[in-house]
Amino acid sequence: MLKLALMDVKIRKINQDYQGQISQATALKELDKIFLELFGKSGLVDQLSKQFKTLPKDQLKTVGPLFNQVKMKLEEAIRVKREGVRENIYKSLENEKFTLQPSRLTHKREGHLHLATKFKQEIIDLFAKLGFEQFDAPHIEWDKYNFEYLNIPKDHPSKDMWDTLYIDTANLKVDPGQLLLRTHTSNFWPRLMEKGKTPIRAMSFDRCFRYEAVDARHSHTFNQFEIAVVGKDITMANLRFLSDYLLQGILGKEAKSRFRPKYYPFVEPGVGIDCLCVFCHGTGCKICSGTGWFEIAGAGMIHPNVFKATGLDPKIYTGLAWGFGPDRMLMLKHNIEDIRYFLEGDLKFLEKY
Ligand code: PHE
Repeated sequence: MLKLALMDVKIRKINQDYQGQISQATALKELDKIFLELFGKSGLVDQLSKQFKTLPKDQLKTVGPLFNQVKMKLEEAIRVKREGVRENIYKSLENEKFTLQPSRLTHKREGHLHLATKFKQEIIDLFAKLGFEQFDAPHIEWDKYNFEYLNIPKDHPSKDMWDTLYIDTANLKVDPGQLLLRTHTSNFWPRLMEKGKTPIRAMSFDRCFRYEAVDARHSHTFNQFEIAVVGKDITMANLRFLSDYLLQGILGKEAKSRFRPKYYPFVEPGVGIDCLCVFCHGTGCKICSGTGWFEIAGAGMIHPNVFKATGLDPKIYTGLAWGFGPDRMLMLKHNIEDIRYFLEGDLKFLEKY
């Protein structure tokens, strides 16, 4: 009888103690600890059931059900309390404001505009100050705007100056060789000139494409910054002024340029604009092919045949145009040795600039 009374009291005592502990628990960890103390290997439940072996059968009939009942109640109490604790955690998360903590990242990464995009904006702003308006022409272009109106007739050998990528027109009702990826931004000025609205003071900063053998200075896809000015008294002196304005605006007051006679079918006279090589300061190196100068633009006075083709009278109007290579200018400005970086998603390059 003593054993029974003891066992009975023990079980009730355990129940009371642990129900109290369970109701006061506020964290899942505490509940885990309580569960292990009760139901774990060699926990209280295990110890008690071992003691049952020593009880006479008739006593077991009374203690057994009490034990099972208490066991179930404690298990249930822990389960219910776990849910309650979880609910509280969810509620506290709902009110929490999430913020990214960059300091926790070993390597901080923030997005920014690409070097070439920032440069484009810089140049456009520089020329908008002089009243130049942006006029963009299509990347996929007709032969007539890319070549014919620019004084490069069909099958003329001067076309070979541009390694052109042609569009396969087999499935279109278009003659072969009529559609191409524009080789320069010069296609914008005949498009604008044929509208007949003069004077023209326009610019385009955009992509061009060529069938090039790719190396450190040549890419199949590159940018050009083109301007075209058409009016009644436009001269080479204006071209000179605008070239210095661009170079000094981008590279600083000490930037040096030179004009060299150069043939382009759509200008007369035509010039190549060179900039003193910033890598070797004129002594000659790998980047400037040993010349000390870096060619960055083709330019000249718009050829009378371009006026005629677009319906303007070359006796009344004159015009100037240039096509600058801004990618090359960026290479000069930042000592970038390879043009291919501009099109590659190289993170080291992107993070540096
Ligand atoms: N379109 C020429 C080229 O891409 C550059 C150029 C533009 C030359 C304007 C003269 C005038 O090579």
